[in-house]
Amino acid sequence: MILDTPSRNLRSKRIAPSLLACDFSELGAQVREAQAAGGDWLHFDVMDGHFVPNLSIGLPILEATRKHTTLPIDVHLMVQNPERYFEVFAKTGADHITFHAESTAHAHSAIQQIHLLGKKAGMTINPGTPLEFFKPVLADLDVALVMGVNPGFGGQKFIPQTLERLRQLRTWRDDLNPNCLIQVDGGVNLENVGMIARAGADVLVAGSAIFNSAGIAHNVNLFRNQLSKLSDGNA
Ligand code: DX5
Ligand code: ZN
Repeated sequence: MILDTPSRNLRSKRIAPSLLACDFSELGAQVREAQAAGGDWLHFDVMDGHFVPNLSIGLPILEATRKHTTLPIDVHLMVQNPERYFEVFAKTGADHITFHAESTAHAHSAIQQIHLLGKKAGMTINPGTPLEFFKPVLADLDVALVMGVNPGFGGQKFIPQTLERLRQLRTWRDDLNPNCLIQVDGGVNLENVGMIARAGADVLVAGSAIFNSAGIAHNVNLFRNQLSKLSDGNA
């Protein structure tokens, strides 16, 4: 099982390129380039057209992606009744499985099910959902994902109130489960990544800011440079 980039300690900042923005006609090459560029996790967005209005990628693309990378594949399920899919995503190559608290009545049980499959468990909430949803399950989570946009589409603008949510979540995390990584997804770019990381994010997901005409390697390098400027020395 792939758990994490071995060279990174608990508080290292991680970059997770989001494949949603990649050129799917060159999937294998794009995945290999994201890994060679120094991406830490590959973020994989699954949308069902019900929980979010959009449809995206699923199992056949995960299977293809798995063949081209040894990085952890970080599956973000934007689907109703996510429990139906945990096992098949685990078997097809997911290393982390993150579900939305709003998509199930049984968040705690969902986390247990993901752990029983031997995978890292993540939970996320929409920007309009109270942050308190995290509290009862924080001790059991490997990843707490804070959405920086309303899920469903790449290329949206980061919602500024997310920063305060990150600061609050970090204090709860430090108190209740220091091993849990805080992840941010949506609207992360080179201009705001430093601010977002300082507010408490350990894992920065970025789609359109990494898969664009400037080049994946170039963009990941610029992200890494921004993170290395953080004063706490943990980048
Ligand atoms: C949004 C997805 C994100 C998306 C981010 O619903 O969950 O992972 O790929 O895209 P950017 O970085 O372009 O906002
Ligand atoms: Zn995502």
